[in-house]
Amino acid sequence: MEPISIVCAVFLVYSSHLQGSSALTPVFVQKGKDVLLEFMKADVPEDFDLLSWTFNKSDTLVTFSPGREPRVYAAYTGRVEPSVKNYSVKLKNLQEADSGVYTARVTTDKEQTVAEYNITVQDPVSPVELKKKNSVSNSLDSCNLTVTCSTQDSHHISSTLRCDNQTCSQEGGERSKVTTSGASLLVYLVNDSIICNHSNQLMEQTVTMFILLLLVLLWLSS
Ligand SMILES: *[C@@H]1O[C@H](CO)[C@@H](O)[C@H](O)[C@H]1NC(C)=O
Ligand SMILES: *[C@@H]1O[C@H](CO)[C@@H](O)[C@H](O)[C@H]1NC(C)=O
Ligand SMILES: *[C@@H]1O[C@H](CO)[C@@H](O)[C@H](O)[C@H]1NC(C)=O
Ligand SMILES: *[C@@H]1O[C@H](CO)[C@@H](O)[C@H](O)[C@H]1NC(C)=O
Ligand SMILES: *[C@@H]1O[C@H](CO)[C@@H](O)[C@H](O)[C@H]1NC(C)=O
Ligand SMILES: *[C@@H]1O[C@H](CO)[C@@H](O)[C@H](O)[C@H]1NC(C)=O
Ligand SMILES: *[C@@H]1O[C@H](CO)[C@@H](O)[C@H](O)[C@H]1NC(C)=O
Repeated sequence: MEPISIVCAVFLVYSSHLQGSSALTPVFVQKGKDVLLEFMKADVPEDFDLLSWTFNKSDTLVTFSPGREPRVYAAYTGRVEPSVKNYSVKLKNLQEADSGVYTARVTTDKEQTVAEYNITVQDPVSPVELKKKNSVSNSLDSCNLTVTCSTQDSHHISSTLRCDNQTCSQEGGERSKVTTSGASLLVYLVNDSIICNHSNQLMEQTVTMFILLLLVLLWLSS
């Protein structure tokens, strides 16, 4: 008998509209998506000389000067959309190499930082699968059950459940690991279910299996 996996909903939280401040704002963006970097226009004096957006404090993306078209620098041509209305910049089709700090600075009689973002570009996490390992048992009341949670990018984590009198506990408590892409993989017991959870700051993929169902499957297959 094959184990049954119940694949649950995925939620993806994608933040595409951000309000900046001069404090460093952390932002997580899915690879390939766009992000709008902006700030309150009121934070900028009307008679400024130059407003620039830079990457990692060294590469200039765009500069704005009053009464002129924004200037987009060569490395960013086609990758950014500046707005003359409010000096925001849309970064398009973000890749891992675009991760870093984006700063907006305005020059009047002094220089001032008006917005600063720490952008981290992440891959979506892959779906997970939860399987019971074959094991022999002759009772539904008392058994040891091992489950393995695996991701499509071949990370996995195993956990043993000890069940007595229909009450199960997870040996060694919650199990977790961090995958190569920085996502976390967790296996934990909640009420009557075992949950495998693969998540990063952007999204999560989970599989939930009811222990009772697992026990029945285990019993049927033995
Ligand atoms: C700035 O302009 C962009 C593009 O027109 C718009 O999407 C965004 O909402 C504006 N932001 C603010 C803070 O006004
Ligand atoms: C930008 O800075 C971040 C650290 O803040 C660093 O991880 C990244 O490699 C830098 N990117 C480039 C292209 O220099
Ligand atoms: C930006 O965010 C990343 C991911 O959370 C973090 O590792 C990095 O240290 C942050 N960089 C700065 C300059 O705060
Ligand atoms: C489950 O494992 C524990 C310790 O590893 C052992 O003491 C117990 O007898 C096992 N129970 C069954 C039903 O195999
Ligand atoms: C099993 O649990 C039931 C109720 O939860 C209880 O009445 C019974 O005594 C328990 N049996 C053992 C062997 O612990
Ligand atoms: C676990 O069970 C308790 C009591 O029935 C309930 O309040 C709680 O929401 C459940 N937790 C989860 C994660 O389902
Ligand atoms: C999955 O793990 C993340 C990070 O630990 C947590 O925020 C989230 O609530 C978990 N989801 C479920 C369904 O337990």
